[in-house]
Amino acid sequence: MSETPHRKPRILLGVTGSIAAYKSLELVKYLKSSAEVRVVLTAAGSRLVPENELKKASGFPVWTSLFKGATPIKPGTPGGSHPLAVVPHIEYAKTADLILIAPATADILGKLVQGLADDLLSTLCLYASCPIWAAPAMNVRMWNHPAVVSNRKILLARGVSFLGPDNGHLACGEVGDGRFAEPREIAFQVESHFRHFGEWTGKKVLVAAGPTREPLDPVRVITNHSSGKMGYALAQAALNRGAEVILVSGPTRLIPPAGIKTYWVETAEEMRNRVHRNFPKSDILIMAAAVSDYRPSRVSKTKLKKTSGGLTLRLRKNPDILAEALKNKKSSQIIVGFSAETDHLAQNALNKWKKKPCDILVANQVGKKGSGFGTDRNEILVFSRKNPKPLWFKNDLKSRLAEKLLDEINKF
Ligand code: CTP
Repeated sequence: MSETPHRKPRILLGVTGSIAAYKSLELVKYLKSSAEVRVVLTAAGSRLVPENELKKASGFPVWTSLFKGATPIKPGTPGGSHPLAVVPHIEYAKTADLILIAPATADILGKLVQGLADDLLSTLCLYASCPIWAAPAMNVRMWNHPAVVSNRKILLARGVSFLGPDNGHLACGEVGDGRFAEPREIAFQVESHFRHFGEWTGKKVLVAAGPTREPLDPVRVITNHSSGKMGYALAQAALNRGAEVILVSGPTRLIPPAGIKTYWVETAEEMRNRVHRNFPKSDILIMAAAVSDYRPSRVSKTKLKKTSGGLTLRLRKNPDILAEALKNKKSSQIIVGFSAETDHLAQNALNKWKKKPCDILVANQVGKKGSGFGTDRNEILVFSRKNPKPLWFKNDLKSRLAEKLLDEINKF
């Protein structure tokens, strides 16, 4: 979408045949609070969620067939119009602001890659010019199958955005990646995309996220429990506002949103190089990465062998990427740092803020169950040069906290 529409945003919701299809009813309910939702139900999807229920939920007839409602051309009619030109769902696809495929099966991802058009949803995806977002839901083995992995990469490169999947219990009884993202969360991302789009157009945002990994030998590393979720949520939120986003990511299991230039790094040194190369042309730097403070002084070329006694490791200090960026900062640039603490959150964070005087310092408690590293939620204490007192953002989804942090950045 090139600009925020004055009318309610229009979403074409594609519901495909995943077990999670029944959750589309809940999703429609949430989406409707900010958008008009028209549902396209595939044949497999209709086996799992009743068309009638989706009709009731969306308030509009559900489209299931490419040809339903089309006027056949009478044989021999010269210049008769093509059925695709007159059917209502085609007309609607022309003005849709977003195609959201949720849940998206391995099948529809494959179809999108191949450019197949053998049903209504796949045809509309080829026809419409708006962005396409997919919230996959499938078994973990399917999600990790090389064919699906390759399809994901191709679609990402073509600009399809992925929401989820989450990691957790799957309908089949297995546990792993492939769980349908929470409908509320999907709707939140969609709403944020429409609400804020364009606000940060022209801004360049650099985000460092995830852990770093310092090798000890070819098989062992020093790392930490950071999942990268907070940094990715911030990158997504900045993208939703129309910014040009560069993500420097340590090793994570997450899929960067389409439309973000991502550099994958392993070590603090690699992260530093990427950040410093991109920092001078950035308006905002967000250092959400959990950078390893030390690395082994010596990296063995071969696997270190166990000996009868203990093992003492010598470690060298890594560069402090944030501290270096602060030294090189231009007055027009905004720098956001993080402070991960297990105890005395406010005091430790305040001490860190004095040492690294970022424009905004976000303190969060780590090592506590259900919040911080590795989870979808967080609670944060925000120190900002624009606020006389630190602000406390209560336990919330990282995506929501990311929005609030961007609002704080907006105050500069
Ligand atoms: N950071 C960095 N480079 C490092 C270490 C940290 O850029 N080598 C950044 C982090 O990305 C974060 C901020 O500095 O934005 C604070 O990181 P944190 O790990 O909380 O604190 P440290 O400065 O490493 O101090 P300590 O480990 O003693 O708490």
